[in-house]
Amino acid sequence: MAMIKSPAVLLLAMVVVVVGELQRFDHAVKSDGSVRFLVVGDWGRRGLYNQSHVAYQMGKVGEKMDVDFIISTGDNFYDSGLVDVDDPAFYESFTNVYTAPSLQKQWYSVLGNHDYRGNALAQLSPVLTQRDNKWLCLRSYMLHAGNTEFFFVDTTPFQDKYFTETEHNYDWRGVLPRANYIANLLKDVDIALKASSAKWKIVIGHHTIFSAGDHGNTQELVNQLLPILKANDVNLYINGHDHCLQRISSPDSKLQFLTSGGGSKAWRGNTNPWNRNEMKFYYDGQGFMAGEITHDKINLAFYDIFGNILHKWSESDQYVYSGSSSL
Ligand SMILES: *[C@@H]1O[C@H](CO)[C@@H](O)[C@H](O)[C@H]1NC(C)=O
Repeated sequence: MAMIKSPAVLLLAMVVVVVGELQRFDHAVKSDGSVRFLVVGDWGRRGLYNQSHVAYQMGKVGEKMDVDFIISTGDNFYDSGLVDVDDPAFYESFTNVYTAPSLQKQWYSVLGNHDYRGNALAQLSPVLTQRDNKWLCLRSYMLHAGNTEFFFVDTTPFQDKYFTETEHNYDWRGVLPRANYIANLLKDVDIALKASSAKWKIVIGHHTIFSAGDHGNTQELVNQLLPILKANDVNLYINGHDHCLQRISSPDSKLQFLTSGGGSKAWRGNTNPWNRNEMKFYYDGQGFMAGEITHDKINLAFYDIFGNILHKWSESDQYVYSGSSSL
């Protein structure tokens, strides 16, 4: 149907102004409105610790699914982020590792705590996007794709211990004064979520909210971010930080807590006990997550380095579903 500039389009333009504190990107979706993506976290180790194997399987699954983009949950470069925009680690751990044709799509990344140990501004620099045009990393932003909105949140500044520990230095340029930064960020995320009319809302951050892994829960996010996610009907919170693959469900809401932090070094071997009704899947090893969002359904799958599906999960907005899934 040929459209005059509809009120919806104008309204959308206005909404962008209102939520303007968080930069918003739009990613075109497939003709049937579906969106497909991969999620990997905690990866940059110059191909070592099975990073190359994870990358290879991401390439295969990415091709089979015809993914639209890739999400990085942070800790992009170990051990201490990038030194500057000329750091060869950018090529050695990113460009030269994720070489499969299906991975030459837009990457949407956040910073992890290890990225803050280096030059955090280097990863945010447009210079890196000029060097490898699939790279994009910002602190906090939104991504609109079909009936889904992704909200990327810079979670490192929330964690108290990074501001008191002495064994590591963090690059807090642009973050201080911290209390203002956090208060503004929480307000912006809340406003953006409230303004969103997307059917599915997905929030992404590096740090866990809930996790049975080595780092465990991030109490600062449980206290400060979780209430906002619950109040705004968020479907998924996706993080890295713990080097595992994990799905935890909520006892009191539809919110699912997903960890995709298996991009390289894993196998910590110290999983903590968790309520069995909530812990739906835990894998203490390498791999990644794949997502497909259709008109009325979210489909997720976790893969190991051999390309095996370890766990699948779907949520439908209808009781009866008869569509097909590429997963
Ligand atoms: C690589 O993956 C295999 C299979 O999961 C695992 O047995 C091995 O320990 C991993 N290697 C490293 C260095 O993590």
